[in-house]
Amino acid sequence: MNNTIHTPAGVRDIPPCELAKQLEIGNRLLDVIRDDGYLLMQTPSFEYFEVFASNMGLTPSKELYKFYDKEGNTLVLRPDFTPAMARAFSKLYHNDTGPVKLCYSGNTFVNTDDLNGRLKECTQIGAELYNDGSCEADAAVISLVVKCMMTAGFDDFVVSVGNGNFFKGLCKKLGITGSDELGLRQLVSAKNYLKAEQLLIDLGIDKEMTDLIVHISEDHTTGRSLVQLSRKIGPGECADCLERLIKITDILKSKGIDRYIRIDLGLLNKYNYYTGVLFRAYTSGFGDAVIKGGRYDNLVREFGKDAPAIGFGISLDELLIAKSFQEKKTVSDRDYLTFALTKGRLADDTLALLEKCGFTCDEMKDKGTRKLIFVNEEQKLRFFLSKGPDVPTYVEHGVADIGVCGKDTIDEEDRKILEVLDLGFGKCKMCVCGHESFREELVKGDMVRIATKYPKIAKTYFNDIRHQSVDIIKLNGSIELAPIVGLSDAIVDIVETGSTLRENGLSVIEEIFDISARMVVNPVSMRLQSKRINELIGKIKEVL
Ligand code: PRP
Repeated sequence: MNNTIHTPAGVRDIPPCELAKQLEIGNRLLDVIRDDGYLLMQTPSFEYFEVFASNMGLTPSKELYKFYDKEGNTLVLRPDFTPAMARAFSKLYHNDTGPVKLCYSGNTFVNTDDLNGRLKECTQIGAELYNDGSCEADAAVISLVVKCMMTAGFDDFVVSVGNGNFFKGLCKKLGITGSDELGLRQLVSAKNYLKAEQLLIDLGIDKEMTDLIVHISEDHTTGRSLVQLSRKIGPGECADCLERLIKITDILKSKGIDRYIRIDLGLLNKYNYYTGVLFRAYTSGFGDAVIKGGRYDNLVREFGKDAPAIGFGISLDELLIAKSFQEKKTVSDRDYLTFALTKGRLADDTLALLEKCGFTCDEMKDKGTRKLIFVNEEQKLRFFLSKGPDVPTYVEHGVADIGVCGKDTIDEEDRKILEVLDLGFGKCKMCVCGHESFREELVKGDMVRIATKYPKIAKTYFNDIRHQSVDIIKLNGSIELAPIVGLSDAIVDIVETGSTLRENGLSVIEEIFDISARMVVNPVSMRLQSKRINELIGKIKEVL
């Protein structure tokens, strides 16, 4: 590749016509924010590493662009504005006690994995309100988010609102602490309720509370359902959180914008950065939220000033992707529910299951066809077939609302998708396999050479579970060949009947996890089409 012509992965030249659009929409958004009393300020593009260190920033250290100054200090290209703004506010407004409203516009830099279609340099606009810890401030900031979504020209959007302290309070009440709390938080924030339920059962949590956590994301939009939930849980930290959400919902109702709001108590941050109310604005066409924000009352203290704070950031690039997607799609296009299915047996089993629930697609029964997209006009369903590992990619990017693929693929791809159902078919196991002699070698704990189609799963298993060094060799098929011809010591692969292993003189040395077909859903579709998708999930559950 010619490095003098091309840009590195994840960054790009923006041609004049696109830049004009970005500037126009960015200026309109900034005008709305400034009209609300926010003062525009600027922080530098790079800062000391400490400003974005793990307890303050949202970005994991490995995703920061780091470099050194001449004194040997580690510097970081700004991955996110909030810590930088908190630092600047703490310094510039150190003696102010009344509300301070600041806003910004600039670029952020995150060193994410290549080849996932995400940008590493993004333009962000945002607003931060300091020195005001009231729920009126929460409601005012959420109202501004709604106004920004309208200003950007979206008519079809939701703002999910949660309270991070609710989950913390619930864990405290149930005695779930340390790594169990962290594990549960990660499962709930990824909406992996199947695993969350299992963990809660293992921890001995009673059925009523397990059900409450498993259904934590169900819509509690009306004040009444929040009151009912509060009564069920009883007084304490959780009830205080709910009371605050009730007050916020009342204010938003009085402003006439409650129709855009969905209370989602399962809205959590993977990192402990936000301290109270949290919100995300979703619209179709981008697989993630286009506006993210929340209350972070402890962050400014890290920079030397005790001040409550709440704010949000808008990713302009992501917002424009969503807008162009919506412009290309007609209104009737948005009526379809789109499925990405794994070609072959899994697709056949999924279609048979859907047929039992009354959803059909006759076009797909023609085995001789080379078509890739199939439609049921009457039921407004669209299906496409892809290779298994591509299903999570289509679903994450929102081009498919729902996907069906194996658990192996979900864990290996590690995408931002919701795993909602275990469909029970396509059962097999992820295993370490090799010659019987490998069993003894494994016990020694020396470095092992493993061939696999699943490098992420293999690395996690050996490093995090077995605490053993591993050299991974990525192959694309017939993995059993590797230990036979001496390319590797053993393999990590799926075993169904075990006949491939038997016929090649290999055995299962260790089982890693059970696999079956799972239904996955795009997080934005789950919010925008929740009624239709939940009805489908309900019908499937009845026939399983
Ligand atoms: C899978 C897997 C094993 C085999 C296990 O391969 O990678 O090789 O099936 O099945 P068994 O336990 O019933 O023998 P697949 O047939 O998908 O093809 P691949 O080798 O090209 O990956």
